[in-house]
Amino acid sequence: MEQTKFLLDESELPKRWYNIRADMPSPPQPTLHPGTGEPVGPDDLAPLFPMELIMQEVSEEPEIAIPDEVLDIYSLWRPTPLYRAHRLEGAIGTRSRIFYKYEGVSPAGSHKPNTAVAQAYYNVKEGRTRLSTETGAGQWGSALAFACKLFGLECKVYMVKISYDQKPFRRSLIQAWGATIVASPSEETECGRAILEEHPDSPGSLGIAISEAVEDAALREDTAYSLGSVLNHVLLHQTVIGQEAIAQMELAGAFPDVVIGCVGGGSNFAGLAFPFLREKIGGRDIDVLACEPAACPTLTRGLFAYDFGDTSKLTPLVPMHTLGHDFIPEPIHAGGLRYHGVAPMISQLMIDGLIRAEAYLQTDVFASAVLFAGSEGIIPAPEASHAIHGAIETARAADEAGEERTILFNLSGHGHFDMAAYDNYFAGKLEDVALDEDEMERALHAIEGLPTPA
Ligand SMILES: Cc1ncc(COP(=O)(O)O)c(C=O)c1O
Repeated sequence: MEQTKFLLDESELPKRWYNIRADMPSPPQPTLHPGTGEPVGPDDLAPLFPMELIMQEVSEEPEIAIPDEVLDIYSLWRPTPLYRAHRLEGAIGTRSRIFYKYEGVSPAGSHKPNTAVAQAYYNVKEGRTRLSTETGAGQWGSALAFACKLFGLECKVYMVKISYDQKPFRRSLIQAWGATIVASPSEETECGRAILEEHPDSPGSLGIAISEAVEDAALREDTAYSLGSVLNHVLLHQTVIGQEAIAQMELAGAFPDVVIGCVGGGSNFAGLAFPFLREKIGGRDIDVLACEPAACPTLTRGLFAYDFGDTSKLTPLVPMHTLGHDFIPEPIHAGGLRYHGVAPMISQLMIDGLIRAEAYLQTDVFASAVLFAGSEGIIPAPEASHAIHGAIETARAADEAGEERTILFNLSGHGHFDMAAYDNYFAGKLEDVALDEDEMERALHAIEGLPTPA
């Protein structure tokens, strides 16, 4: 019988995060101050983030030590398992080998606590007592609520309205970990009120929720802002995933030809892919594939441009693939992938040809999710199901070409709180929405006049 699970001992938990900035052929372009057009410095960010995270944001060290206090909490669920998907391979009749790294074993059910715990730790160390944040599907909000609870911090979560309505039990989870939660756009911030005045029925978006959380933090001395994706330090914290996966693939006597992750802001994709990209930059041949929804096709159809990270233009200007900061994606069920931009490091890697991207329709993604659940047993989160779909499509394409490949994907979370989405799929109520060309053109007007990257 061939082995299914590849497990590491707690003592093998990575002790350092991997910083891909040190190895990138072209470094990401600087983030700019919207007023001056000059690169943003540490002092500009100090009201929002603790200095250690700001230093990680700009660090060029290849590795950064993980504090013992963070490792101690990681050990509650890390190292996470890596599986060989024997049954999925059988179900699709592929000659390729499929592996997946499963991040759904964390307390919050996704990869998000990997950075939430680190961020809560550095904020406590710097004397902050309260964090504000946004959440899409509720995965990030629940991860930060969990981390804040363990470190004794207060936590305020602005949750995208459509997900707040669709996923009531993620709300309960956030409350169970002691955080306060409100639907975004809300009446509690100036930007929330302005958006509600113009669009009383707004389903919300990550861009809007970020505006609210940033405003909250900027106005309170005791509060820092915490972001669950996009920023360099967030991607850095996720690299424990890929480092473990490399050791586990070794246990399996294999190395991937293809590494796959879904992309919202880019953190779980980066977490798995960056340690493998280190090998690729060093000369190994690996195909690295980012999977996104056709309703929010940032990498496949967005422009590489300077844009705001949020709808109300409170953040610095970020060099990234974007659909425009006031773009509100259709309310698809992969709420965590409804973001107009993407991490600048991922954009740069895309421009340099080190990664590629594909976009999928949600009914195709749910069909793959159900196939996966029926063979491997785990009910995947709709976001993670984009990576499953990417892996299945890759295996099928290899079969058609008469090739055999070793495929590794990141199963970034379980879908236990997403069953309403599955209900809609089974009832035939899911709509397939690909972003309309006219809407894209309209939304991209928002970035006219902003600086263009070199
Ligand atoms: C399970 C899961 N996967 C992926 C994502 C997308 O975020 P990121 O691109 O930062 O990994 C989310 C976001 O909420 C998520 O909950």
